[in-house]
Amino acid sequence: MNIISFEEITSTNLYLKENYQNLANHTICTSKTQTLGRGRLGRSWQDSEGSALFSILVKENIENITMIPLISAYAILNVLKNLNTKSDLKVKWPNDIIINSKKLVGVIVEGITTDKVEAIIIGIGININNESFNSEVSSIASSLYLETKKKFDINKIILNISKLIIELLDKKDTNYIIDYLNENSYLLDKKVSFNYKGENLDGVVRKINYDGSLEIDSSNQKYNVFSGEVTLTNTYKQVVEK
Ligand code: BTN
Repeated sequence: MNIISFEEITSTNLYLKENYQNLANHTICTSKTQTLGRGRLGRSWQDSEGSALFSILVKENIENITMIPLISAYAILNVLKNLNTKSDLKVKWPNDIIINSKKLVGVIVEGITTDKVEAIIIGIGININNESFNSEVSSIASSLYLETKKKFDINKIILNISKLIIELLDKKDTNYIIDYLNENSYLLDKKVSFNYKGENLDGVVRKINYDGSLEIDSSNQKYNVFSGEVTLTNTYKQVVEK
């Protein structure tokens, strides 16, 4: 595994995107801080000291693109649960990790496409030893340190998650990953609003399907949602909007 580490960079995702042609499959880029952290759906990702910020470059065996966010969520949740923090860790489909109702981990999966998919970049930000957040995010984000008052080895966590993701990318049967995510699903039975083929609907989340989509019941009909975002319509709304 090839690891490139920075003290500061614009974005670990951007670095891999700009250099992917010259880098080996499964190169990992990490940085202590980012000046231009990228979040999902065009948003930015702000970090404070103590985060794990890293991206994994995938150049081979990229057939199962729709499963990559879920594989990533599984690997992250597994490694964090093994730290025995006794905290309530849940997955918010497709790949956020929530701790005691606050956001702990964000994942962005980006593709580099010409006439085919050349590479995939999995970007992961985990709030580990962060002692505080700015006022903009402090009500919606938390860190392992803030929840447990313990400090953790950031590099070890990055290494363990990266190793597990790389191992899982080659797995053909991913049903057990989906089963595990359903057992640890933050959205299960929650009311959400969602966009289906341009229409804004409300419904209740039933499960994550084996193809990676989210099954939502709305007006006695089942909808399988693949992309975009599902927004909670209860008091936790802000957690998913930032
Ligand atoms: C989200 O929740 O919107 C996804 C956030 C992903 C942030 C990580 S931090 C490391 C990597 N580099 C980036 O620029 N973004 C991802």
